[in-house]
Amino acid sequence: MTLDAAWKRVHAEAERLRPLHLREMFAADPDRFAAFTRGVDDLFVDFSKERIDQGALDALLALAGAAGVEAKRDAMFAGAAWNLTEGRAVMHMALRGGAGEVVEIDGQDVMPEVKAGLDAFLKFAEDVRAGRARGSSGAFTDVINIGIGGSDLGPVMATRALRPDHDGPRVHFVSNVDGAHIADVTAGLDPKTTLVIVASKTFTTLETMANAAEARAWLARTVGEAAVGQHLAAVSTNLDATGDFGIRPERVFGFWDWVGGRYSLWSSIGLPVAIAIGAAKFREMLAGAAAMDAHFQAAPLAQNLPVLLALIGVWRRNAMGWPTVALIPYDQRLERFAAYVQQLDMESNGKRVTRAGDPVPRATGPIIWGEPGTNSQHSFFQLMHQGADVIPTDFILARKPRGASEKMHGLLAANCLAQAQALAFGKTAQEVEAEMTAAGTDPEEIARLVPHRTFPGDRPSTTILHDALTPFALGRLVALYEHKVFVQGVIWDVNSYDQWGVELGKALAKALIPAALGGPAPAGVDASTAGLLAALKG
Ligand code: F6P
Repeated sequence: MTLDAAWKRVHAEAERLRPLHLREMFAADPDRFAAFTRGVDDLFVDFSKERIDQGALDALLALAGAAGVEAKRDAMFAGAAWNLTEGRAVMHMALRGGAGEVVEIDGQDVMPEVKAGLDAFLKFAEDVRAGRARGSSGAFTDVINIGIGGSDLGPVMATRALRPDHDGPRVHFVSNVDGAHIADVTAGLDPKTTLVIVASKTFTTLETMANAAEARAWLARTVGEAAVGQHLAAVSTNLDATGDFGIRPERVFGFWDWVGGRYSLWSSIGLPVAIAIGAAKFREMLAGAAAMDAHFQAAPLAQNLPVLLALIGVWRRNAMGWPTVALIPYDQRLERFAAYVQQLDMESNGKRVTRAGDPVPRATGPIIWGEPGTNSQHSFFQLMHQGADVIPTDFILARKPRGASEKMHGLLAANCLAQAQALAFGKTAQEVEAEMTAAGTDPEEIARLVPHRTFPGDRPSTTILHDALTPFALGRLVALYEHKVFVQGVIWDVNSYDQWGVELGKALAKALIPAALGGPAPAGVDASTAGLLAALKG
């Protein structure tokens, strides 16, 4: 089947299903839950509450076939220069052993270097934890990771997610070039017992370099210039620049240009996580991601979890025309997961031209956002239930709590399932009327309130369950979303691995810095920016 024919079939299925309410779809098929759930080990995905049936799923699987998902997946895993605008392989899977024993990139097996790199930063993490790597006044009690985007979001997200595994020094994160960030993080920390990790793939990012300079000065004021080096480490692919910054070579942990920034949690960018949880647990996280790599490579499309999540996303975005996705973990420790997936997904698939440079003839990456439940129930869920837009939702929930009350976990789980239920099935006017009548409400009052108390329902969601948020489960969950993004990139035919869209703002900011610091506005600047620069001066 041609790609065009496959898309036509998907749209025809969408037209067929559009008039049906999820209530009707559940009523019509008592086996819906069995038909639209899949799992691997303890990871379980229920997409029965998506507005999809077997015909639609078959059409989506045919689309994946026509787009060549399997062959392209195999090419990526084989080390092809899949990131074609930068001429690079996409091989973060190698970092977790998920791409095989031998991984050739440009004809060279990179695995010996990968293993040596992993051993080196994990050894350093253990040395910091054990007090063997020391500052000028002894063991480190605190670590500050300075980085932004992929050099921040993965480590922050994972460090918070794995709170019960922390048994190392306290780990803090500074990302924003707003000086308030570093000021607030360093307040109360003792430079004498603090290690600063400067994490930047390029080691040129404005925010990180500015924060690194601030941190260096903060250290030097207390420990003295001569001892600053003992308090610094770096993670980067730009080893010349780390040397120029004065970081000792044995405190610099490298990685490779075939690891995208937003895919770099598995590399030495994970150093702060390893310092918090230790090398063994960090390796468990890698093993979880490798397990998902193996599943993604081997499972048939119809059973393949990243492929199915990707197809559901394509259905939501292109067939149904819904532009956004809410990502709602019912897990407080995943409080930064939506922010992490936001970069992973939106920086990867927020593209409008094909790999060949032509306009993509359809919508591409959706807007991803979210906050953990149950907090989000008390903020934006109102709009999700009764607002004008349909917002498809991914729920994430563990079967068991870690180091927390079983009873409270029951409350959490009940709320998660209830929200998915309410979104899907809603509450009809008749149900509201019957309920109010039974409560003895005056008929006039009932008539007045029914429209306000009715829930349309028919709002789709997918629920992802796993046993518990362990390092293994976290690694597997992140890799699930990584591969989902890859599959969607293949279906939309975009390059998911570059990010030219962030460059313009960076260049313009550079040009505005002198004016923002009080100098004159640059010549020829637009009237609004010139006006704002003047207004900034007060
Ligand atoms: O925002 C653009 C970006 O290049 C991201 O892709 C990247 O994760 C982030 O900046 C940080 O880059 P670096 O690690 O090179 O400092």
